[in-house]
Amino acid sequence: MKVLVTGGAGFIGSHTCVELLNSGYEIVVADNYSNSKPEALKRIKEITHKDFRFYECDIRDRTAVDAIFDENDICAVIHFAGLKAVGESVAKPLWYYSHNLTSTFTLCESMKAHGVDNLIFSSSATVYGNPASVPVREDFPVGPTTNPYGETKLMQERILRDMQKAGDINTVIILRYFNPIGAHESGLIGEDPNGIPNNLLPFVSQVAVGKHPYVRVFGNDYNTPDGTGVRDYIHVVDLAKAHVAAVRRALDSEGIQYYNIGTGVGYSVLDVIHAYEKATGKTIPYRICDRRPGDIDSVYSDPSLAVEKLGWRAEYGIERMCIDADRWQTMNPQGYGD
Ligand code: NAD
Ligand code: UFG
Repeated sequence: MKVLVTGGAGFIGSHTCVELLNSGYEIVVADNYSNSKPEALKRIKEITHKDFRFYECDIRDRTAVDAIFDENDICAVIHFAGLKAVGESVAKPLWYYSHNLTSTFTLCESMKAHGVDNLIFSSSATVYGNPASVPVREDFPVGPTTNPYGETKLMQERILRDMQKAGDINTVIILRYFNPIGAHESGLIGEDPNGIPNNLLPFVSQVAVGKHPYVRVFGNDYNTPDGTGVRDYIHVVDLAKAHVAAVRRALDSEGIQYYNIGTGVGYSVLDVIHAYEKATGKTIPYRICDRRPGDIDSVYSDPSLAVEKLGWRAEYGIERMCIDADRWQTMNPQGYGD
């Protein structure tokens, strides 16, 4: 019995593959390398000293996905594959709706045809839109979302809810991630953004190694203690471990379940910059700039449902997230290379 990991060469997928293998699961990975490199898979093998089967394919290709289920005894699927850049989704909404929804349709049709009953889906805190209060619990209202990417996540959640209700799939676990950062402690795998990073931590890491002169802090007039945006940053290895816990739970339960995956602690942009400086001894110059359109004041999770039902909780704090991100950036200044 194996776990299929779609998008397993990506940032969160690669760390999850490591944790699954280290926990004794056999895995099969599928990825089209649209936002990742084969080197990531080599590094997973280097870290774990374990091998696995890989399919270079697009999850929207039904024939290719059918072949994976035909050739392997899959008990559960973790579905990471998808497009995730908020700004790009605003510029190319049709591409995002088409890509993210079609890959989930194709995967689910093939799972149904092959009687595969357990799905863990990568969702996002973005489905809560601008929450009325924090910390955010799973029973808070979802939507309206603030961009097409977030809308695709919400639509996929609803499609999976309806399919589970209709009996097409037995168990669906929706994990709503907050802000994943950091890297594996080996420094061998991490986040490898294309071009200039949009997200805070990869940008801070690049400032730390001199790729950019300073961090642009997007606004200091938010309704937060220091005026900069507050988010719930979670170490990617903790997030990966949440997937192992979710697979275990899926194999032992039924229905649709939603879990916030965060630490429950909010840090401001300035907190992150200062934590990075303290953790690494490096100076991070910054400048206060205008707000970034679409950003909100404060979002952090109440992760207590995941603690109770998945038996999982985040272990690493912000300092460790910064140390591991900095090690990855320093050891791999060009990411995985070309
Ligand atoms: P990523 O881009 O690093 O990984 C996604 C992987 O999927 C890549 O390896 C890419 O090549 C692959 N892929 C994309 N479309 C594919 C397709 N049609 N067929 C096969 N492979 C395909 O992204 P990530 O940060 O690891 O995110 C993984 C998932 O988690 C995504 O669904 C994302 O929306 C979700 N998520 C990410 C964040 C975050 O901040 N990183 C937050 C919330 C949710
Ligand atoms: N920020 C800066 N400067 C930067 C980048 C970001 O000040 O160069 C600030 C933002 O204004 C925000 C905070 O840092 O206050 C975090 O921004 P990120 O872009 O790192 O993360 P977001 O919370 O905006 O969005 C992320 C993912 C989304 C996902 C969301 C919730 O990018 O895909 O978390 O999970 F939907």
